Amino acid sequence: MENFVFHNPTKIIFGNNTIKQIGKECKPYGDSVLLVYGKGSIRKNGIYQQVISSLTESGIDIVEHPDVQSNPVLSHVRKGIQLVKKNNCQVVCAVGGGSVIDEAKAICAGSVVDFDVWKFFTGKKSIKKVLPLTCVLTLAASGSEMNSGMVITNDEKKLKFGFGNKRLHPKTSILDPETTYTVPADYSAYGAVDAISHVLEFYFTTQLQFTPVQDRFIEGLVINIMECCTQLMKDLTNYRLRAELMWSSTLALNGLSAAGLGKVGFPMHMIEHSLSALYDVPHGAGLAVVIPGWLKFFKQSNPERVKQFGQRVFGYHGKNGPINQGETIKLFIDWLKRVGCPTTLRELAIPEEDISKIAENATSLAKIWRLDRYDQETIETILHLCR
Ligand code: NZQ
Ligand code: ZN
Repeated sequence: MENFVFHNPTKIIFGNNTIKQIGKECKPYGDSVLLVYGKGSIRKNGIYQQVISSLTESGIDIVEHPDVQSNPVLSHVRKGIQLVKKNNCQVVCAVGGGSVIDEAKAICAGSVVDFDVWKFFTGKKSIKKVLPLTCVLTLAASGSEMNSGMVITNDEKKLKFGFGNKRLHPKTSILDPETTYTVPADYSAYGAVDAISHVLEFYFTTQLQFTPVQDRFIEGLVINIMECCTQLMKDLTNYRLRAELMWSSTLALNGLSAAGLGKVGFPMHMIEHSLSALYDVPHGAGLAVVIPGWLKFFKQSNPERVKQFGQRVFGYHGKNGPINQGETIKLFIDWLKRVGCPTTLRELAIPEEDISKIAENATSLAKIWRLDRYDQETIETILHLCR
């Protein structure tokens, strides 16, 4: 285990009937809030009204910034920043999934500087201060509600970049599993795949040989997410399953799962971000296609790690004895199909002839994330394994 610092300052309020606390959680930071949300799901399922009543009861003025799209874009972030500056909002409240929370984080960072917020994403500027952020999570997936990361697509350049800064941690996030009852089956499964991918990135890219506590923490999260997601497909308003998936997704990317693993990378995400940037693929759906292809590439250099994962997650024995790396990947693909995810580029209607264009797009993020072994040719090889 390598040295590490684990410091997560986000206060989590978990459970049903908790949304009414959002006003009290915003109040210490100011009397004017920018309320950031998506295309309308919260209006249909009643969350919007609960948030508005709570903020109003706390005497907070509300400026609305609706219409965040899934895979949020820079042009809409800029509009949110203008609203904050024009109305002198002191706090930002995000009500939605990872896209809404990430856009809100970018607004928090961009509202306190006089240069373009994209400079943070290209490393030209670093974050020194941000506006305070509170969240009401409505989709279990990204972990953004309890981490310091954000991912935004530059819609002019078709580049989807992500990065982290400790100041981006939300002050408080309210996690009420009942808010996710209205998430359709497909996006519920995409969210589960996203959460699984977060811990797989760490599990397979750590250079360390002896990491039992992290291994079993990660394997346990994956087993739980897969089992609950499979059952959820038949019962979308099951509170216990929604609660398990919500908390597992948050735990997957709040700093705990990577603790002590030393230098890790996010290669599957580096590739997936290009699918989302170029084709607007839902993030979790893109990962459902990339994970199997990347594992087929990775098992060539590290079959033992893939075998260990498979034997611990799917059970040691297969039909012909201890399951091997190939059977592990096949069992994972079987699960992806069982919960209705695409598992090939073809199912995403992405033509094989686009592979070099996708790889070229991904190399720009590989450079920023210092994933040196992932050059154009390597990324193309992996994408061919995703076809
Ligand atoms: O816009 P609305 O109408 O709200 O609809 C959304 C959206 O269409 C809908 N939805 C959300 N909550 C709902 C609901 N529909 C019904 N009932 C509800 N309760 O679901 C759709 C997808 O929402 P989105 O926020 O895009 O999904 P998710 O939470 O998976 O977030 C994906 C974004 O997170 C980023 C991804 O890149 C992507 O942009 N990520 C952020 C990370 C981070 N900050 O650490 C890490 C992740 O790896 C990921 O990259
Ligand atoms: Zn992700």
